[in-house]
Amino acid sequence: MTARLAVTRLWSRRGSETVIRNLSLAVAPGEFVLIGGTNGCGKSTLLESVAGVLRPAAGEVRIDGVRTDGMTADQVARSGLSLIHQQRHLFSTLTVRDNLDLAGFAAGRRVELEPVSSLLERFGIARLADTAAGLLSGGEQRLVALARGLRSRPRVLLLDEPLAALAGEVRDSLLLELQRIARAGTAVIVVEHDSDRVRPFADRTLSLRMGNLALADSGAAA
Ligand SMILES: Nc1ncnc2c1ncn2[C@@H]1O[C@H](COP(=O)(O)OP(=O)(O)OP(=O)(O)O)[C@@H](O)[C@H]1O
Ligand SMILES: [Mg+2]
Repeated sequence: MTARLAVTRLWSRRGSETVIRNLSLAVAPGEFVLIGGTNGCGKSTLLESVAGVLRPAAGEVRIDGVRTDGMTADQVARSGLSLIHQQRHLFSTLTVRDNLDLAGFAAGRRVELEPVSSLLERFGIARLADTAAGLLSGGEQRLVALARGLRSRPRVLLLDEPLAALAGEVRDSLLLELQRIARAGTAVIVVEHDSDRVRPFADRTLSLRMGNLALADSGAAA
């Protein structure tokens, strides 16, 4: 089967520092992969390189067999990938509903969007629909950012530390939701430095060390 996401021999730099070194990873449709690793090891750099936010120095990225390295972040998004950033990047003066609506415009005309009402329901944020995003708590803003990232029904979903600022109960329901999204055919990658919380929900746990992926030690925090 063609991997939904295939990363091959990827190299990526931040300034003069080489952060990702010859990294390969294939994620199947329906698979939920967790990537752990200490602060500063390059988790965000990896996701941003895959998403086209950063231009990799070398290597290939394919979504359903189609090459996306070399594309802009917008083009990669239109190829079916959604990156939920570590920072939330919401429009703070716009309402939650308007933030979700705008994600629809950004997705382009060819994409079949998930209705805003359905996203508000799924993430338990319907009561906040008419509130300005800047007035929400950190955890609520994170849920809105997640809902926004799913508006375009991505085939590849990358989440950069999605659990930060979320309370225990919300965290677990979010992880279950991510599992459901994966089961429906999306390739889901979550990076978290505290990977123990996510591990029970993931199909596979890897650890980013020295710019490359290794199988995580079972039981220990990656
Ligand atoms: N904008 C930048 N300019 C230059 N160097 C950067 C930049 N962002 C990150 N780096 C460097 O690249 C390396 C990897 O950073 P990255 O943000 O990918 O790590 P991370 O694993 O996501 O860390 P964290 O768990 O703290 O989010 C670090 O050494 C960092 O100092
Ligand atoms: Mg990071």
